[in-house]
Amino acid sequence: MKILSIETSCDETSAAIVENGRKILSNRIYSQIDIHQKYGGVVPEIASRNHVKKLPYIIDEALAESGLSLKEMDAIAVTNGPGLIGALLIGLSTAKAMAYSLKIPLIGVHHIEGHIAANFLEYPELEPPFLTLVVSGGHSHLVMVRDYQTFEVLGKTRDDAAGEAFDKVSRVLGLGYPGGPAIDLAAQEGNADAIAFPRVMLEKNSLDFSFSGLKSAVLNYLNHCKMKDINYSINDVAASFQLAVVEVLVEKAMIAAKNVGVEKIALAGGVSCNSLLRQKMATAALKHGYELYFPKPILCTDNAAMIGSMAYYNYLNGAVSDLNLNGIPGLKIGSRN
Ligand code: KG4
Ligand code: ZN
Repeated sequence: MKILSIETSCDETSAAIVENGRKILSNRIYSQIDIHQKYGGVVPEIASRNHVKKLPYIIDEALAESGLSLKEMDAIAVTNGPGLIGALLIGLSTAKAMAYSLKIPLIGVHHIEGHIAANFLEYPELEPPFLTLVVSGGHSHLVMVRDYQTFEVLGKTRDDAAGEAFDKVSRVLGLGYPGGPAIDLAAQEGNADAIAFPRVMLEKNSLDFSFSGLKSAVLNYLNHCKMKDINYSINDVAASFQLAVVEVLVEKAMIAAKNVGVEKIALAGGVSCNSLLRQKMATAALKHGYELYFPKPILCTDNAAMIGSMAYYNYLNGAVSDLNLNGIPGLKIGSRN
């Protein structure tokens, strides 16, 4: 089954063709990062306008790269939430028009479930059950994937997402947008033990996250240094902040894995590109005897191939949408509307 998938939930305009949920035939991504960079973050209206401009070309490119024609597609998949509503609607309207005119099924996909499915593309042999740490610009979730359609949220952020914290701290350090890769790079030249930023674990047994206190601690540290005319190293702040985020993510993931008794742990979302997170997760997984899975960076950040993979399993389980499918900015994991 060949699915043409579309992803426009934030600032990447992407179209892909995926076969049987596991094989990428093409995956074209147009990143709008350069456009939003001067504003220090994604401007929703500008994102929507650029999706309108680019999506038709990106779809053409995805078809050309696969060597297939539209008539050879068996279904159209699209992210219908969570995300920026204007941006989601561009992908949705396009997908609906295509599914209607080609007379093939339309499959709505949850963006986070898509991020999780990126692991199915990277590891064709990987099957549920497994635990996933989903960390992106908008989400920090620990999700137990029981089967291809049963996602149980064990914990999530109560305030900022991990990626959001990276982006905000990067901005105050003057490292620009997106913050994750910039901090990752700066941290490699810094001392992670230089500043003791807090590790917020919340209540005993809680698998939720909270990163806003850490962000404030970084701001306070910088203000203190500026007021007292103390020199500080941007690289040390970046490294110390990154270690504080990563230690909490790894520790909570290990507690969750033990609680649910899984053998496999997968990483997903843009923040799972982080080099320290990958390294520390690998060490912890080895120590506790878990198999660790993480997609290559291009499949961790937003892309349509992951949507095409998840769509295949939705289809197999009868989760096909109709033309009333709507964009839902706060769509909950495990639900379609
Ligand atoms: O999954 P994604 O592309 O979009 C959302 O669904 O949010 O994730 C984007 C987020 C941004 O916050 C970005 O700063 C972060 O992923 N990110 C990273 C790294 N690469 C991207 N965070 C930490 N380290 C990285 N190397
Ligand atoms: Zn995403």
